[in-house]
Amino acid sequence: MSLESLLAWIPDGHPDQHLAREVSIDRLPAHVAIIMDGNGRWAAGRHLPRVEGHRAGIEAVRSTVETAARLGIRVLTLYAFSRENWKRPPTEVSTLMRLLKRYLRSELNALLRNDIRFNVIGRTDHLAGDIIDELSATTAATGGNQGMVVNLALNYGGRAEIVDAARRAIEAGVAPDELDEQRFAAFLYTAGQPDPDLLIRTSGEMRVSNFLLWQIAYAEIYVTDTYWPDFRRQHLLEAILAYQKRERRYGGISPSREAAGAR
Ligand code: IPE
Ligand code: IPE
Ligand code: MG
Repeated sequence: MSLESLLAWIPDGHPDQHLAREVSIDRLPAHVAIIMDGNGRWAAGRHLPRVEGHRAGIEAVRSTVETAARLGIRVLTLYAFSRENWKRPPTEVSTLMRLLKRYLRSELNALLRNDIRFNVIGRTDHLAGDIIDELSATTAATGGNQGMVVNLALNYGGRAEIVDAARRAIEAGVAPDELDEQRFAAFLYTAGQPDPDLLIRTSGEMRVSNFLLWQIAYAEIYVTDTYWPDFRRQHLLEAILAYQKRERRYGGISPSREAAGAR
């Protein structure tokens, strides 16, 4: 996909066209990860039950997935349900699962049309059988696609992922002296994918809530006050533009100072 593909999708004269043209297409984040937060507060602000916020959040997922795919992002990871989210009332959890199933069914065509490969990360074997079946069907149906990968994080925990990777490394018979960071990363759920360059969290919360703990080592963090159900193409473009203004150092010194021969 390409900037042209994104521009063609935005109605002429819409302010998002201007935003999209500002993006440097050669400096896109390869991997964008999003903590989709604030559904409950969005609903509370409208005197609605929390689950209405989750329902409204589906439109934000649609808009974000299509924008990222058209722009040419390689990997998009969406935090949909954490291992800690089981602490919520059972009715909220069951509604979330029902919405997930509905989303998977209604979005399959859009995923195929946009050449998106769907993938799930997390301890999904602990989910209900019908959800596992739906996830497997979507993964299989999109398995041949070559465009963006969407990782949906479900029953996901960053620490659990690291423990699972350690277990797999042991099972694979990796000797302690053979184990290094690169080898270890090949046992994570995101094996073979670039680490997130940009981590977005909506609803203003300044925490990572057990998301991709290993992979976000050098991610640029962008927090917006926008609640997830209000997040659209415009907000993703704004996050990417903010990312493109950052200077990434990875522990080194600023490239401009390096060029000037700073010590
Ligand atoms: C994020 O919104 C969705 C999930 C965690 C599933 P929340 O439900 O956490 O919304 P707030 O944070 O209570 O507003
Ligand atoms: C993080 O949001 C999990 C997801 C977005 C799925 P939470 O709302 O669960 O995080 P905390 O509890 O505020 O840290
Ligand atoms: Mg929350």
